[in-house]
Amino acid sequence: ASSLQQAFETSAHRNSSDDEDNDIDWNNLGFSAKPTDYMYVTKCLADGIFEQGQLNPYGNIELNPFAAVLNYGQGLFEGTKAFRRKDGRVFLFRPDQNAIRMQFGAERMCMPSPSISQFIHAIKQTALANRRWIPPMGKGSLYIRPLLIGSGPILGLAPSLEYTFLVYASPVGNYFKEGLSPLNLYIEDEFHRATHGGVGGVKSITNYAPVLSALTRAKNRGFSDVIYLDSVHKKNIEEATSCNVFVVKGNLISTPSTSGTILPGVTRKTVIDIARDHGYKVEERAVPVEELLDGDEVFCTGTAVGVAPVGNITYKGRRVEYKIEGQLVSRDLYSILVGIQTGIIEDKKGWLLEI
Ligand code: COI
Repeated sequence: ASSLQQAFETSAHRNSSDDEDNDIDWNNLGFSAKPTDYMYVTKCLADGIFEQGQLNPYGNIELNPFAAVLNYGQGLFEGTKAFRRKDGRVFLFRPDQNAIRMQFGAERMCMPSPSISQFIHAIKQTALANRRWIPPMGKGSLYIRPLLIGSGPILGLAPSLEYTFLVYASPVGNYFKEGLSPLNLYIEDEFHRATHGGVGGVKSITNYAPVLSALTRAKNRGFSDVIYLDSVHKKNIEEATSCNVFVVKGNLISTPSTSGTILPGVTRKTVIDIARDHGYKVEERAVPVEELLDGDEVFCTGTAVGVAPVGNITYKGRRVEYKIEGQLVSRDLYSILVGIQTGIIEDKKGWLLEI
């Protein structure tokens, strides 16, 4: 509690000069792990009850070499953002959705999870304590990373007997080096991201390293990201390594349904809502590759990515170009999403939480 108190005092002091002396270039943030001031930490034993957490100075953590997360991958992460407004007020965007998703994922990974209120409290504390790292409006956001890991030592395979929930943060701008320019995507037909019955539908840490080889191969060929195909027929699209995928044809927007192999993105869900509210028809169902290649527009969504237009997609040596000029559905949806997140557009759905 004393370090919590201390962090508040420090952050309160800093609030008086929010944009103070970070030698950070707010105009070129990109997406990298920049150290900030504090991280939130709490632990629980196998009883599943997380103790009252505390803010510690941001830094390395100590883990037993036999920790379940290091050896057997028992871990989940989340991603959420805090946005600063012109008047200095700071808002979180739908952190309850991340809390719910972590609970769902924790069950799949045989882990206890923090309660919804503990989770949101931790996010708020982390954002508050690192307030000076929240970029000015229009420059980016504070990306907040909650991580739940089996931290107890295990040798025979079993659920860990101790868990650690950590929340830390980094100021971020655009995820892709392309910035807001359209992405070049590659459809991967050798490696797969997920299979039915697996963990593709939860934010397990084990979903991310296995796609690095396909991602690196595609990046070396000049692509921004990879789209995966269903592992049974290689016929329907799944998602990209870091985001969900949507295709637009006329007034219809389609995206793969979250039937177990697709990560149920918070931005995905939000964009579907926004699109429906603005008169588009949105379908969540199997989307064949051919339909993707035949679209007018394609875009990606994710917390880190936001809403990113796709300029072209390459599949089996064929490159398809999409509309990237003029009135774009993805640009409309992007403006509405960012408008709500930054307070320019009224938040009629209660998506924002002020810290
Ligand atoms: C996010 O969008 O928050 C993610 O967790 C994706 C990750 C690859 C950065």
